[in-house]
Amino acid sequence: MGSHTEILQHSGQRAIVNFDRYNHLADEDAQLRIVKAREQLGKRAVLLCHHYQRADVYRHADITGDSLKLSRLASQSDAEFIVFCGVHFMAEVADILSRPEQISILPDLAAGCSMADMASLAKVERCWREIGEVLNPDEHFTPVTYINSAADLKAFCGEHGGTVCTSSNATKILEWSFARRDKVLFFPDQHLGRWSGHKMDIPLEQMLVWDPDLEMGGLTPAQIRNARILLWKGHCSVHQMFQPAHILRFRNQYPDGLVISHPECSFEVCQQSDFIGSTETILRTVKDAAPGTRWLVGTELNLVERLAEEVKAEGKIVQFMSPTVCMCSTMQRIDPQHLAWTLENLAAGNVVNRISVPPHEAALAKVALQRMLDAS
Ligand code: 13P
Ligand code: SF4
Repeated sequence: MGSHTEILQHSGQRAIVNFDRYNHLADEDAQLRIVKAREQLGKRAVLLCHHYQRADVYRHADITGDSLKLSRLASQSDAEFIVFCGVHFMAEVADILSRPEQISILPDLAAGCSMADMASLAKVERCWREIGEVLNPDEHFTPVTYINSAADLKAFCGEHGGTVCTSSNATKILEWSFARRDKVLFFPDQHLGRWSGHKMDIPLEQMLVWDPDLEMGGLTPAQIRNARILLWKGHCSVHQMFQPAHILRFRNQYPDGLVISHPECSFEVCQQSDFIGSTETILRTVKDAAPGTRWLVGTELNLVERLAEEVKAEGKIVQFMSPTVCMCSTMQRIDPQHLAWTLENLAAGNVVNRISVPPHEAALAKVALQRMLDAS
């Protein structure tokens, strides 16, 4: 990922386009060029933006949402080009769920998800083999991958009777999974898995962490036999910044204040929050709340700042949970310069930064995603 010199192919046309001359484009010029290129493209391009996207890109969105909403809407769009202002796995999902003639594009290929990178197919396959030394995994374990994962892991789940979940349907997906097999292998986010299992009243001691860097995940055969959920040792670098101490300080200062967090936060942060939900749920909950309420929000900074601005007129106060600035630095890479470069190329007939999942992998990943969409 990350090369700015792309070899392009579209309608038989072949050209080499260099991003470098966009690198120093002034922000205002990039904004104007985005608007102009969008006018030229019209309905041929749809711009999908995740809620963490920076403001200077988010303002151009046709559709905004959490991962579930965006993956659903990507598949329903008629546009020829799905320009995904999010991270790599989101553009992959758009490619998998869209029609074959649609093209999914990520304006900067370096926009990955550090959590998604914490699980790889090789490591998950090794885990499956090692579990197999204790129990037949295809009989006892439903593999569930968080949507924040590479397409080959979704394909693995499709092939092994498993599925995908997002932050808004994880508990429902666990119910679906336990209706089929007695245990779940959940990757790559241990926190989402633990919180969702806890909501189903699964005791913490039956949810054990699988460390992919240790033999047998660092577990004994007896622990594997007794576990209900094996939680992959992965996390989000943004959400790990939020601490119970931040909530305590807020509550001491504002006893009537309310706390809402994303389920990628640690178990202790989730436990001490008043509400837990996906990015879409966080926005809806605060927007629907009574005027004059005060909120502490445990999720990415761009979302929180935008929300604070939007509800300010109703006298609502929205505060960011961490005292240090933490953004999704990879999503942040999609800036107006990359968006202008992408859209101008599309308008000129050059497809840049296409995200294309190999057909065999896409077919199996689609099986897993379709199970998720049907179950939620
Ligand atoms: P949502 O599905 O809640 O938008 O979360 C995606 C994500 O990556 C959160 O870090
Ligand atoms: Fe990945 Fe965390 Fe960024 Fe979400 S916030 S896309 S989990 S790195």
